[in-house]
Amino acid sequence: MSDAILETTGLTKEFRGFVAVNDVNLTVRRGTIHGLIGPNGAGKTTCFNLLTKFLPPTRGTIRYDGRDITGMKPAEVARLGLVRSFQISAVFPHLSVLENVRVALQRERGGSFDFWRSETLLRRYEDRARELLEDVGLSAYANLQASDLPYGRKRALEIATTLALDPVMLLLDEPTAGMTHEDVDRVVALVKRVAQGRTVLLVEHNLKVVQGLCDTITVLARGAVLAEGDYAAVSRNPDVIAAYLGTEAPPVEAAHG
Ligand SMILES: Nc1ncnc2c1ncn2[C@@H]1O[C@H](COP(=O)(O)OP(=O)(O)O)[C@@H](O)[C@H]1O
Ligand SMILES: [Mg+2]
Repeated sequence: MSDAILETTGLTKEFRGFVAVNDVNLTVRRGTIHGLIGPNGAGKTTCFNLLTKFLPPTRGTIRYDGRDITGMKPAEVARLGLVRSFQISAVFPHLSVLENVRVALQRERGGSFDFWRSETLLRRYEDRARELLEDVGLSAYANLQASDLPYGRKRALEIATTLALDPVMLLLDEPTAGMTHEDVDRVVALVKRVAQGRTVLLVEHNLKVVQGLCDTITVLARGAVLAEGDYAAVSRNPDVIAAYLGTEAPPVEAAHG
């Protein structure tokens, strides 16, 4: 079995001539947490959408687990175990936290609606949903309406519904965006926990968040790979510091480790 689970070659995305992702060669090793970071506008989300097949590439190929997935649809790659975290909007706001996870589990089994009639199956989904809530630290919120969850906890619910799909590899786009320090720390710990036995590609703006979490970090700037390595290496790389400085206030604590 190859050490690489996800591999892109010359991955490129142009929007009417504007190159948002430029000739990216990315290799994610199996069982690792890989960070894809960079300043705003670097092309992280575009890259994320290419990898999860929400956007077709202009050029380049994507291989996942030994097969070429470049031409596949999102649902097909999800069935192969490559799953992106759902957006908040995919959470049903009027269902309870527990029901949201149960629905995700039922949807994963797909097809037949016979499950509505099967008490046994329903109970199995319920038990599994409670386990997943336990895994993401939401047990105490099980019966709360999803829309009433505190902001910092919504990401945990999103991750629980993603885990319901039993991913081999998980892609997360800025799971800590807009969060307070306390919530950020909790989500970082959560990502570490759900990464066990899986591969995670974490798209993140903030260098600080990937510190201590990612085995390998790829830094994007203006659509292209600027640097790659562990946190210690990329955080003191002058090109990386300059890229962050050039566009906005730098993540100072991060740059100084
Ligand atoms: N659908 C689109 N059409 C045109 N330009 C886009 C589109 N999506 C993203 N871009 C541009 O591509 C660049 C990279 O965007 P994005 O991938 O969202 O960066 P990041 O997630 O790193 O902040 C930005 O300059 C953005 O304006
Ligand atoms: Mg983005």
